[in-house]
Amino acid sequence: MTLTLDTKDNPDLLSTAGEVSVPIVSAEVQRFLAEPVNCKLFVQKATSEYRLAEVLSSRKGETGLEYYVHYTGFNKRLDEWVSINRFDFSRKIEFPPTTINNHSATSKKGVIGESISLLSEASSKREIGQLRSSGTSHNIQEIARVKNLNKIQMGQHEIETWYFSPYPSEYAYCDILYICEFCLLYYPSLKQLRQHRNRCELHHPPGNEIYRNEGISFFEIDGRKQKVWCRNLCLLSKLFLDHKTLHYDVDPFLFYCMTERDERGNHLIGYFSKEKESSESYNVACILTLPQYQRLGYGRLLIGFSYALSKAEGRAGSPEKPLSDLGFLSYHAYWTETIVEYLLLNSTEDTTFEEISRETAITTDDIESTLTSMGALKYYRGQKIICLGDKVVEQWERNYEKRKSRNRIIVQGKLNWKPIRFTTSQLRFR
Ligand code: ACO
Ligand code: ZN
Repeated sequence: MTLTLDTKDNPDLLSTAGEVSVPIVSAEVQRFLAEPVNCKLFVQKATSEYRLAEVLSSRKGETGLEYYVHYTGFNKRLDEWVSINRFDFSRKIEFPPTTINNHSATSKKGVIGESISLLSEASSKREIGQLRSSGTSHNIQEIARVKNLNKIQMGQHEIETWYFSPYPSEYAYCDILYICEFCLLYYPSLKQLRQHRNRCELHHPPGNEIYRNEGISFFEIDGRKQKVWCRNLCLLSKLFLDHKTLHYDVDPFLFYCMTERDERGNHLIGYFSKEKESSESYNVACILTLPQYQRLGYGRLLIGFSYALSKAEGRAGSPEKPLSDLGFLSYHAYWTETIVEYLLLNSTEDTTFEEISRETAITTDDIESTLTSMGALKYYRGQKIICLGDKVVEQWERNYEKRKSRNRIIVQGKLNWKPIRFTTSQLRFR
């Protein structure tokens, strides 16, 4: 059974034929179609399963209306545009309360923000507004919830993006954005990128190489000295980091970029940013392995390098909270491996959290929470004792072999770096 809706009050619903046909008759569906944003309903995810999802936006696609949906309980990475035939209208639609402002899209306070400096909510609205003034009726916050680019091309890789990033409006919404892998400038066409590549002279991130081991290098880049490059890095990384809206003030941060070298240059694999001065002893603000290099052990190398810097500074550090889901998995794996390694090689009856912290630069809080979640903290005669089970040790041995065979180990002695002391005036950013 189909229903032809009266679209005179809702010109947005008009298909090219001037009417919309949906496979169900109900006032509820009409209400939904009139104002779909923020409604929740069951949507076909992947091939067959139906999941509860929230509609975040709608647009006219080539084949009719399309809806951008977020699956409840799933990471935003899986948000997607779907056509109306993926909705299950036989189940109840949840409508948003009408009396309050439902655009609860304000992004979480936190990680990417600090690394690329955060906008206040008001200025973030302003910025996104400026970046995308396409004259649609979409709410600004709604825009930030919707992925604006589908794909980027960098070097040899074509990569699907995960989240919204405020690239300027003339570049956003193109099919593929072409990014120069060395200077990170972006172009709407391959032709323009090629023309740029003929002129571009950069073959590595624009900073000092402070570490080199077997093809892997780290470059240190000061946000104050390389504003454009660092802003472009932040725009790029925002595509894969679901945190606050980014700001262009990169001055308060240092960027540690990991590259792999071949005859064409030093190719960016990932990076982390670090506040020049962190009142909370954070040693990483924001960390990213570019998707084409993920799950190959590079994230572990980045994390290892952040602790190598903390060791050189002589103080423990921790990543800025909250961590993303993938950030948590990677840090948890790193902490487990590092603490178990220390205990296997060095522990005595008197080993304390403080001692492990001194040697690994992992904070005592992170050590305690890791050991607790491993089930390795026991109480004996009123005292906490560390007790590693056979399974934990076997897992560590397997991981160690994997890391060695992939050569994913940071060699502290190869770090050619002294902690930088910034003067008060250098730390005055605004
Ligand atoms: N699923 C399950 N476990 C995972 C996953 C995953 N998708 N990704 C990492 N892990 C765990 C595994 O234990 C893995 O070891 P294994 O592969 O031997 O099993 C371990 O973490 C380390 O994996 P790596 O390959 O070293 O990590 P990767 O290079 O993929 O980088 C990172 C990890 C940086 C978190 C990456 O996923 C990323 O860039 N994500 C997007 C941005 C992000 O979320 N960053 C963290 C935000 S929090 C912050 O910035 C402080
Ligand atoms: Zn370039």
